[in-house]
Amino acid sequence: MCGIMGFSGNLKKEQESSVDVVLNGLKSLEYRGYDSSGIAYYDNDDRVIKYIKKSGKLTNLSNEFSCITPLNSDAAIGHIRWATHGRPTDENAHPHIDCTGDIAIVHNGIIENYVVLKNKLIKKGHKFTTETDSEVIAHLIEDYINNGKSFYEAVRLSSLELLGAFAILALNAGEKSIAAVKFGPPLVLAQKDNNIYVASDISPLIEYTNDVIYLKNSEIAYFHYGNLEITTFKGKKINKTTTKIDWDASRAAKSGFSHFMQKEIYEQPARLLDAFSSRVMYNDGMKDNVVNINKIKIQRNALGSNENTQNSFNEVFAGAGLKISLEGLKLTKNDVLNSSKIVFIACGSSYYASLAIKYMMEMICGLPVIVGYGSEFRYENFPVSQNDIFVGISQSGETADTNSALEVAKAKRAKILSITNVPGSQITGLSNKGVIYTHAGPEIGVASTKAFTTQLLCGLLLALYIREKSGFIPQYRWFNSQNIFKDLVELPKKMEKILFIDETLKDIAKKYYKSSNFLYLGRGILYPIALEGALKLKEISYIHAEGYPAGEMKHGPIALVDENMPVLFLLSNNMLASKTISNIEEIKARGGRIIAVADYEPEIDGLSDLIRIPETLEVLSPILYTLPLQLFAYHIAALKGTDIDQPRNLAKSVTVE
Ligand code: AGP
Repeated sequence: MCGIMGFSGNLKKEQESSVDVVLNGLKSLEYRGYDSSGIAYYDNDDRVIKYIKKSGKLTNLSNEFSCITPLNSDAAIGHIRWATHGRPTDENAHPHIDCTGDIAIVHNGIIENYVVLKNKLIKKGHKFTTETDSEVIAHLIEDYINNGKSFYEAVRLSSLELLGAFAILALNAGEKSIAAVKFGPPLVLAQKDNNIYVASDISPLIEYTNDVIYLKNSEIAYFHYGNLEITTFKGKKINKTTTKIDWDASRAAKSGFSHFMQKEIYEQPARLLDAFSSRVMYNDGMKDNVVNINKIKIQRNALGSNENTQNSFNEVFAGAGLKISLEGLKLTKNDVLNSSKIVFIACGSSYYASLAIKYMMEMICGLPVIVGYGSEFRYENFPVSQNDIFVGISQSGETADTNSALEVAKAKRAKILSITNVPGSQITGLSNKGVIYTHAGPEIGVASTKAFTTQLLCGLLLALYIREKSGFIPQYRWFNSQNIFKDLVELPKKMEKILFIDETLKDIAKKYYKSSNFLYLGRGILYPIALEGALKLKEISYIHAEGYPAGEMKHGPIALVDENMPVLFLLSNNMLASKTISNIEEIKARGGRIIAVADYEPEIDGLSDLIRIPETLEVLSPILYTLPLQLFAYHIAALKGTDIDQPRNLAKSVTVE
């Protein structure tokens, strides 16, 4: 997935140029991909488009521009790349230029018919200079202009010819105008005074305004010098409403932490509260005594984390009513009563969150839950009926594999809802039964942390919401409103307690960071967290780690275990505790070095390390167990010196299949 940014406006020449604005914007988008970058700008002095593009990190491009500033320019487009077609070289970096040099484009997505178009254009005499699919866009626009079309018309007609997924910015020298085209990957606009900004997401825009305009598929924005016009691909002019974003620029900064990932790990107590505040009400039977979560007092300390002081629950908990309200969700009682199954579709960490939510849903709602990989589901012959409820989980809301799978289900008339972190993202447009926002705020670190735990929480709220609609009474002794509300409200405080043992986790990491392999083992609702913990370690430290059901080890993978194999167990004081202890003994007998994360003091010796965490209800335990695994992976990666916020080969959101 790539990041694109554009600007057109009236800048005071001596202050800054359009290149400064776009370069600054690309810095906010760098988490989306960082194989190469480039900017094309209109030079007001020479009255031509100029550009610089460089492979490698964005600093390579900044250094090039620092040699030629100040610039007199008030229109520019920029790109930061995660390579799909063509090696990450200077030449293949964006922007791409047409034969005349009057058209420059940057592109996020994939042009699926670029070979056909390229061959057609070469026959017409166009000269290509790169291996990329994107370059064909510049020459296609040029070709329409050669046939007498205006720049806008040339862009519009080109958009109708392209197949695939594309968010495009095109800069035209003749009019100094910019056209933004959206079909698939996101594009967001903002207008401030006489300046117009456009970007792949709101991160670069938030420092200028909180009011943004989300382009939808098959829409074009065309602007110069503060004049903005939005049309459909068919040329029909449309008026768009603005969306107010409650993210402020400070929240997107690091707030004093070493990495965005570390900051986002520490934010989790506060973000969990954001995720369930005003969505969970408890009525103790006396109507005027409904306790809203917002009444819980929160005090912040230096690190921005929270010390959750809470009211005593004795006077509140007398009995019956837990009420879940999920704003925007359109799931009716009949939808729930008529549903034959609930299907979760997701990728990566969001898929692991779905697996944990499956346990929650089946325990609380008694409905069969299926979880599918976005990349696989789309091509399976999975029976879908109009009574099925499909839930897409995606932090970015732009994961092509997830969205494509949901489109298949929607075409078969299934009910679609989503759990996502980004307002206006593509998945929200697919969700005909509404969206549950995680309210995690901008997650800049490529490795998902607060997005993951808030997804788990929103999945629990959805389970409680569906149970409420269905009237199902779980046969679990622990299930009553009192227990759930109490443990929910205590969750941020318990997360905080785990953050307090961060130094212990750092000391443990020092013993293992030179390992080449890891096993992460868990059972039941903690098995998906073993998978997520292994993924965190893999993606930021580049150490091979495998998550596995603890009970399955004896059926083969235990052959991997020797004294060089650290094995991390997730151990909870529940009905599986004795089974997991047996699995630990099996590993111990083969010399494995055992780290245990436990919510009680297990009666077992020979553990290399024990990480104690607070106890909570089983349905909430995945949220607590995730946190020490995030911190452990973070410290191992920091000791290894890898690029924690922008790990090699990764992108924050994969908008290609
Ligand atoms: C998570 O640490 C990874 N960066 C990755 O697996 C991610 O969860 C996956 O690509 C799905 O992204 P999404 O949640 O934005 O759909």
